Amino acid sequence: MENHIVEFRFLAEPTDVNFGGKVHGGIVMKWIDQASYACAAQWSKRYCVTVSANAIRFIRPVLVGQLISVEARIVHTGKSSMHIYVVVRASDPRGDKPSVTNRCFISFMAVDEAGFPVKVPTFEPVADEDKKLEEVAKHAKDFAKQLDDDFEQSLGWK
Ligand SMILES: CC(C)(COP(=O)(O)OP(=O)(O)OC[C@H]1O[C@@H](n2cnc3c(N)ncnc32)[C@H](O)[C@@H]1OP(=O)(O)O)[C@@H](O)C(=O)NCCC(=O)NCCS
Repeated sequence: MENHIVEFRFLAEPTDVNFGGKVHGGIVMKWIDQASYACAAQWSKRYCVTVSANAIRFIRPVLVGQLISVEARIVHTGKSSMHIYVVVRASDPRGDKPSVTNRCFISFMAVDEAGFPVKVPTFEPVADEDKKLEEVAKHAKDFAKQLDDDFEQSLGWK
């Protein structure tokens, strides 16, 4: 697999269930965080911290016993930040076509042993899909930063 992509595959377990009998949203967010951490660390060869998770969408429920694929791919890099598109798919392991259940953008920052930001290799999209995703990721980053500013101003933190 390419250096900018990580894929986790596993079965949704009975311990992942919520009160409604489906997989808990928090468990799905943990899968997203873990796969995207692995993707950021693989790309930067550094320890990385989560900066922000944006546009997380719960499209369909995930069922216990389904085969899960969590694909995380770098779609944009800044100086120290890596912006990752994550898509979660679920299928019956006996053979149906996977359905997209979740997607989001999540941003990580590479840090050194003292926690200071470290420059990361630049991602240059080649495939058309990656080029399009980079544009959306830039938009998501700008939007998230604007929201950060709005929160800080409205709460008087600035
Ligand atoms: C992550 C952290 C180090 C960022 O510190 P900061 O001083 O606010 O960072 P900056 O404003 O300089 O931004 C750092 C990078 O993140 C990007 N960024 C900032 N806010 C962002 C947002 N809302 N969404 C996406 N990217 C964002 C910046 O563009 C910058 O990227 P660049 O280095 O490529 O230019 C700090 O907020 C922190 O320690 N947070 C806790 C992290 C954590 O505990 N994560 C969970 C466990 S791993």
